[in-house]
Amino acid sequence: MSSLQGKTIVLGVTGGIAAYKAADLTSKLTQAGAKVHVIMTESAVKFVAPLTFQTLSRHHVFVDTFEERNASVVSHIDLADSADLFVIAPATANVIAKLALGLGDDMLSTTLLATMAPILIAPAMNVHMYGNPAVQQNIQTLRSRGIHFIEPGEGQLACGYVGKGRLAEPLEIVASIEGHFANGQPWRGRRVLVTAGGTVERIDPVRYITNDSSGKMGFSIAEEAKRLGAKVTLISAPTALPAPDGVEMVRVHSAQDMLEAVLSRLEQTDVIFKAAAVADYRPALKAEQKIKKSAETLTLELVKNPDILKEIGTRKQTQFVVGFAAETDKLDEYALDKLKRKNCDLLVANDVSQEGAGFGTDTNIVKIFDSRGLVESLPMMSKVEIARKLLKLVAERLPAAGKDS
Ligand code: PMT
Repeated sequence: MSSLQGKTIVLGVTGGIAAYKAADLTSKLTQAGAKVHVIMTESAVKFVAPLTFQTLSRHHVFVDTFEERNASVVSHIDLADSADLFVIAPATANVIAKLALGLGDDMLSTTLLATMAPILIAPAMNVHMYGNPAVQQNIQTLRSRGIHFIEPGEGQLACGYVGKGRLAEPLEIVASIEGHFANGQPWRGRRVLVTAGGTVERIDPVRYITNDSSGKMGFSIAEEAKRLGAKVTLISAPTALPAPDGVEMVRVHSAQDMLEAVLSRLEQTDVIFKAAAVADYRPALKAEQKIKKSAETLTLELVKNPDILKEIGTRKQTQFVVGFAAETDKLDEYALDKLKRKNCDLLVANDVSQEGAGFGTDTNIVKIFDSRGLVESLPMMSKVEIARKLLKLVAERLPAAGKDS
């Protein structure tokens, strides 16, 4: 039975071309057994007729705050109270700003202010609007209040630009909503440690060696594990990403820092995801002062860094260990070799030479191995979806029942 069966979802639809996708979302949620009440803004009505949502949800669609159909209740309070979950999809920059500021000037914004239900927002807008510091600040404000966001996708936008801003696909939004309601069974209370980002190995005070890891893969795992009820610690090398809500964030720089942060938490960890791109070598000496330009050539001596994953593999007792492998050739062979040498329970291999896979992208293409060989080969999908699939695979392999501690 779907985790949506019998749940009441209030769906806010705001004015963007992606409003048409909200019709599909309404249909999918209703088919999964949810009771969907749609609130549209005046602008949304310019894109899709309320009748579309009424037909798909089989419920009246609210647009006007003062259209009180039932004299025994106040509509926006009644709707706000009825929600098990409040979803806004698509969410414009305007509704995000209103919610961040606490404005209530239409049916949707007043209902949002009145609800005590968890809120999930799926933004959709032009790439520059999405990147605008004011919009990003509003998103941060809402995140810090515990509101969850489903990241927009990257690609061709209706406005003609290519970039980030496309509404997440309805299936992805449904999966996120299902995850919300399924919250907790295998993951509740599990202590999860995730590493992310590319370590920074200093040459001198202004120069360093690093790699292209953005941290997106590891942050996605941390966020999804948290959403499923795990107690998550995220140990991250420098990235541009904000700390996910409700996750213990430990920021480190070098491989040595990461090793110490990981090992000091190993005993209190149930599951480890080692998505960080750790530098294999570091400069033998870190100059205290900026190195001055002099000779025509400069030789930098590098020494081997500790292999954190291997160290975990050696010390692990009951911990379930998921390693990663970034390869450019012989993916299966090298991945299986790493899995065995580093004593991992699962290994996620990405061919980072493939477009849409590996470093920096919002998507990845991975093959997941255990000691017997290939477990699953996942086509290109968002890192968030990969994180979800991975957590599901791991959950199937964990000792029964989540821990309550
Ligand atoms: O951060 P993104 O931009 O989203 O990109 C995601 C990613 C490509 C970084 C991620 O999917 C990934 O592949 N992470 C592992 C990158 C890596 O370092 O691969 P590797 O094959 O060199 O190392 C194998 C494993 O050993 C990894 O789990 C790594 O964390 C670990 N390792 C490696 C070297 C070392 N000194 N210590 C380690 O723990």
